Amino acid sequence: MSKKILLSGVKPTGLLHVGNYFGAIKQFVDFQDEYETIIFIADLHAITTVQDKDLLSKQIYDIAVDYMACGLDPEKALIFKQSDIPEVSELAWYFNCITTVPYLERAHAYKDAEAKGREVNMGVFDYPILMAADILIQDADVVPVGKDQKQHIEYARDTAEKFNRVFNTDIFKLPKEMIVESLAVVPGIDGQKMSKSYGNVIPLFAEHDEVKSLVMRIPTDSKGVDEEKNPEDMVLYQIHKIFNGSEELFNSYKKGLSYKEAKEKLIEDILAFSEPFRKRRAELHGNRDYVLDVLKKGGERAKARVEAKMEKVRNAVGVKLY
Ligand code: TYM
Repeated sequence: MSKKILLSGVKPTGLLHVGNYFGAIKQFVDFQDEYETIIFIADLHAITTVQDKDLLSKQIYDIAVDYMACGLDPEKALIFKQSDIPEVSELAWYFNCITTVPYLERAHAYKDAEAKGREVNMGVFDYPILMAADILIQDADVVPVGKDQKQHIEYARDTAEKFNRVFNTDIFKLPKEMIVESLAVVPGIDGQKMSKSYGNVIPLFAEHDEVKSLVMRIPTDSKGVDEEKNPEDMVLYQIHKIFNGSEELFNSYKKGLSYKEAKEKLIEDILAFSEPFRKRRAELHGNRDYVLDVLKKGGERAKARVEAKMEKVRNAVGVKLY
């Protein structure tokens, strides 16, 4: 039996953080044997915010390195950049033509930007449709993401259904999100969802001094060491348990561990966890020819994968005459 298809992507908008890793990338790596795994760099999506040539190129390269540093194996997973499949943008156009404006106005990301009084660009508005094209063009069965992307997967499903209905076909499969409940929303150092836009992230590859200064900023209350506490209520523990889910740690947070000791242990646990990642990343970073070769070949393979499907799409829409 052929394997089910797992597909996902990350935007090259800056350094990866712990939320990106645990919410999404960990699943890409953990499931790369079980699923046919297709992982891309969402560079077209990044242009909604990154409009600087050199910066974008650098960040695309960095994500390619980071994927492999996190354990994605190019022998197992197909790794490429979104812009290497122009058909994704073509498909997004067909989808645009069957999508209504009020439907896209209900997207959380757009509504949030509107609520903040931002004048959003068309790319932000149309973001869910480009994402639907990413997913549907590759016939994905499951899409591992954090909870903030759940609505986008619903948009992809709706769009598949609508295209199939409008053009009277069964071309598109309905994808499902894969969300690990305990990692669906990784908290940042202020307790809100970890996010670059909140300035509360712990970068995945941060070195000792940075990790230390970030952990020191995590708020704690004034309860004494021997007062009984509920660890689940503490931001410090909510972050710590992601790195160390042991009962022993839980019990020590409940009683007996001072906040100072807890922070020291968290710094140690984060650095021990990220050490092999940082090592692999440093090795890969200087190996530019190899990294670019992986991306280029991945792009060629990913593009070849979609050709037959796009012929069916063009035929279903009516633009294919020969
Ligand atoms: P991006 O680059 O914003 O985030 C990458 C992944 O990290 C997850 N994530 C989190 N998970 C748990 N807790 C957090 N605090 C946290 N912060 C980020 C995100 O949910 C995401 O899974 N739209 C996507 C990129 C994309 C895509 C796609 C994904 C484009 N096309 C098709 C899947 C399929 C995005 O903005 O990811």
